[in-house]
Amino acid sequence: MTAAPALRWLCGGCGWEAVLAPPLPCRCPEARPGDDVDHVLRRRLDPALLGPVDELRSQFLDPEPNPFVRYRRLLLSHQVALAAGWSDPDFAAEVGRFDRAIAAVDGRGFRETPFAPSRALADALGLGPEGSLWVKDETGNVSGSHKARHLVGLALHLPGGEVPLAVASCGNAALAAAVVAGAAGRRLQVFVPPDAEPPVMARLADLGAELAVCPRRAGESGDPCLLRYREAIAAGALPFTCQGSENGLVLEGGMTLAWEIVSALLRAGERLDHLVVQVGGGALASACAQALGEAHALGLLPRLPRIHTVQTASAHPLARAFERVAATGLPSEEALRYAATHRSGFMWPWETAPASVARGILDDETYDWLAVVEGMLASGGRALVVDEATLVEANELALRATGIAADPTGTAGLAGALALARAGALAPGDRVAVLCTGRRRE
Ligand SMILES: Cc1ncc(COP(=O)(O)O)c(C=O)c1O
Repeated sequence: MTAAPALRWLCGGCGWEAVLAPPLPCRCPEARPGDDVDHVLRRRLDPALLGPVDELRSQFLDPEPNPFVRYRRLLLSHQVALAAGWSDPDFAAEVGRFDRAIAAVDGRGFRETPFAPSRALADALGLGPEGSLWVKDETGNVSGSHKARHLVGLALHLPGGEVPLAVASCGNAALAAAVVAGAAGRRLQVFVPPDAEPPVMARLADLGAELAVCPRRAGESGDPCLLRYREAIAAGALPFTCQGSENGLVLEGGMTLAWEIVSALLRAGERLDHLVVQVGGGALASACAQALGEAHALGLLPRLPRIHTVQTASAHPLARAFERVAATGLPSEEALRYAATHRSGFMWPWETAPASVARGILDDETYDWLAVVEGMLASGGRALVVDEATLVEANELALRATGIAADPTGTAGLAGALALARAGALAPGDRVAVLCTGRRRE
């Protein structure tokens, strides 16, 4: 009899479960147009099968700087590789080799990013002498944001061959995809709007990405980049995006960010009361919520921090969905089960064209909404909506207080923390964390 796997791969909407053999599917094969089920694939961990907590704690305290090597035993790609006959040292060596290829393309590979308390920010939030505000700084990460984490996690699952990869983006996700695809030696098609910023286009071209400019065609509704991207996927390209709804396998790589936070807390003997995360498509928040939830279930975190999300006043489909889930009046688990099979009553595209300084979180739909709502409900978090003045204030404050030159999307979590403090939702002595996710590119 073979041992039950610690990690399983299943659909959060319909419950379909994959056989753990490479290549794992990136989307649920049971999805049917119009079935109104939220078919996003996700991992499920059985904490009891992952080994003793002391062993896990020593993995989290491992000084190995590359998160994909340090946390490899928590990755589905590791589990699947071992089931296919790889050894653990072979997997670690392959991850190290891939990291050197990334460094050859981008000038840097993956190293644990800084996570440090800022006294000035804690004071700005009125957290008192016992309180602290911790900042996870992703601005120096591969390609200048956290996005490459998602894509390395996905690249570790990629089947070999010549099939091209595809993404619809003209921002951090496209830049990250081009670096990771380049390191993997894969063709990447990037679908961009005609008004994409020239410096980003130039960098993408430098990285060898195949740019497809997508003007609106007569009589067509919907985002032309997304339409052309979907045509490429239908023609056989592999989704190389940072959206779990397109490819559920992108989530795991994002989890390394939160695992690094857990490692830092273990090293410092600290606790965390709140994590405030900016949300566009929702993959980042989903990855953080899942990683922290698992760390709590594994006994690595004595308690789960409240996971709050931040969107802009001009587009907040997640906050709308969160309110609707609460309005069902059902206990959390039942409400989530209902929402998973009645998606259109909770998540639909924002009706008006949004505008904000935080351009990276203006997605008209929160694709990974269900897992994020689940994370907020499980932890007692809030779905925050912030105005433009607070987004600008947070961006200036982050630079002044910490020297971190993030863009306003990157500091939107801090804007959420300011909003929480002003709503009286933070107490003196609280320990709060925010993520500075992307660097300024002017
Ligand atoms: C710098 C930065 N932070 C945060 C986000 C939000 O991540 P997600 O779309 O996974 O919610 C984005 C998305 O583009 C981003 O570019």
